[in-house]
Order: sequence, then structure tokens, then C-alpha cells
Amino acid sequence: MTLKEAYAPYFKIGSSVSRANLDNPLRIQLLKEHYSSMTCENDMKPMFFMDEKENLEHPEKYDHAPAVRFDLARRYLDFAKENNIALRGHTLAWHGQTPRWFFHENYDENGPFASRELILERLENYIHSVLDFVQTEYPGVVYAWDVFNEIVDEGNFRISHWSHLVGEDFFIKAFEFARKYAAPGVKLFYNDYECYAPWKLKFICEKVLKPLMERGLVDGMGMQSHLLMDHPTLEEYENAVRTYGALGLSIHVTELDIHIHDDSEEGQNALAARYRDIFKILLDAKKNGIANVECVTLWGLVDEDSWLSFFRREKSHPLLFQNDTEAKPAYYAVVNLPSEN
Ligand code: GLA
Repeated sequence: MTLKEAYAPYFKIGSSVSRANLDNPLRIQLLKEHYSSMTCENDMKPMFFMDEKENLEHPEKYDHAPAVRFDLARRYLDFAKENNIALRGHTLAWHGQTPRWFFHENYDENGPFASRELILERLENYIHSVLDFVQTEYPGVVYAWDVFNEIVDEGNFRISHWSHLVGEDFFIKAFEFARKYAAPGVKLFYNDYECYAPWKLKFICEKVLKPLMERGLVDGMGMQSHLLMDHPTLEEYENAVRTYGALGLSIHVTELDIHIHDDSEEGQNALAARYRDIFKILLDAKKNGIANVECVTLWGLVDEDSWLSFFRREKSHPLLFQNDTEAKPAYYAVVNLPSEN
């Protein structure tokens, strides 16, 4: 039984995919076998879609509509199409991994900031170019987009070039543009981390999702889910799934991993138990009509590939597979769960 088969009656199982994955035949095999959804880890973010060389060399030509390049994204889109794996687009807008020059007049980082109007015009044209490319050349492959990533921080909207230069409706505008150009049926998501922390959960529901829902601009909540072994509590996680679910939105777990440094048998069995608990919450929520969970994506294919060892500054063993293809106890806990219930 593979992961995607085990969960087929309930939701898609996804993995993030890096360049290193696509260069490795063992990992390619794993992707084909186990996953029904994929997310490009980096190469479909603004800093990779925007053609830096072209924009900086000819700023006057691209002043209103940034030049974009599609060569990096094509590898993932071709792979997804050939292997019939649905692709989550990630992410149309974000404060991170977006070129600084995008926010300046003449794309000159040392010059003045561009006006609200110009930034919004650039954003609209950027979103239009990206969606047009994907939908014309790869129709049906991208089934959902994270439109904005991580706009909430420290009890309020994050202070970023977006909020600062555009104003409080910056994310609403991005969703308007995405809705305008997205093909019918392509779902639009808001995506964030720590979205189960009580204050953040409330803020996202009240200040982000509700205004978007009133305008018919959002279809789903993306719960990143970079978890620790003891945080959040299962109650907090379950409450978040329930609360977002109650809004009537689709729920995607978009970036699931669970940091653990302990590689001993005991440590990895504990990781397996934690994965089982989290998947049980998601599975039960789906089965009982508590939340429309449609996809659960692991952030990384194999432990060696995880961003966490870098981010946490210690070796992390947070995923379901290691050494390219070896299934860990966590894999068995996840794959066996649906048939246990
Ligand atoms: C955030 C982003 C992801 C990725 C991770 C770190 O969660 O949404 O795209 O950059 O950080 O790997």
C-alpha cells in the first residue's frame, strides 16, 4: 500500500519537491509511487519567476509588468504532467523570496520606493503572466495556489514592503488579481505558519479570511504545520482544523514536518506516534465532516532533504523517509492509519 492509495478516499498526499529531488532517480521513484500532489519548494516563488537580469537591464521596458522566466518552473510542471501528479502553486505573493528591486522605481534598489499604484500594477501583471503561462501550457496541472503567504506576525499584520507601501488592503488586491486570472476550479489559498496559536488563529479568521470570504476571493486555508514534538498540543491543532473547517473553506496542510534531533529507535518511534496523532486528527475531521481536508503535504521527501537541519541548527530527522528510499517508523504509522480505523 502506498501513501496516496491509503488516503485516496480522504485526501491527497503531497510532497514538496526540490531541484535535488528531480536529479535523483530514487527520489523520483518515491514521488511517483507515493504522492498525488506536489509543491515546488522554491522555483515557483516570485524571486525565481521574476527575471532579474531582464528587469534590471531594461527597467523602462518592464516598469509596469515585470519580465518573467519560466525555465525553472517547467521542470516541475513537466514532471507533474507526465506523472499525473496535481501541483499546488506556491506562492504568488510573499514578503520573503521576493526581489527587493520589485518595490522600487525603475527597479533600482537604491532609488525611491514605487507608488502604491505602480506596485499594484506590477503585481497584477505578474500574477496575470504566471497564471496565463501555467494555464495555457499546462492546463489542469495546477489545482490550487497559495496567493499570499505569512502576512500575520506578532499580533497584527506583518510590517513588510507590502503592508507599508500598499496599505492594509494589499492582500485583498492580490486575491482579486488571482481570482481574476485563475481558471475556473483553481482554488485560492491563504497560507501561514503557527496558525494554531490561539491569538493567530483568531486574527487570521477575523482579519484575513473573513474579509476575503465576504468578497468571494478565498477558497481555502493553508496550514503550514512545521511542528515540534511538543508543540502545538494536539488540542490546539485539532481546534485549528475545526475552526478553519467551520468557516466552510477547504483545508490544505501545506508544509508538514515535525522537527526531531533524536535519531534513536526510541526517538523515531516517538516521531511515528506524533505523526499518527496528527494524521488521526485530519482523518477524523474529514470523515466526520468537521473540516474539508483535501490535501496533506509533507515539506520534504527524505530527511536529508529537509530545510530543518539548517533552520534549527542541528541535524533534523523530521520526515517519513530517509537515505533516499528507506521508510521510517513514521511512514508505517501514517500509511497504516486509515485501515486501522
Ligand atoms: C516557509 C515557506 C516555504 C519554505 C519554508 C522553509 O514555510 O512557506 O516556502 O520557504 O518557509 O523551507
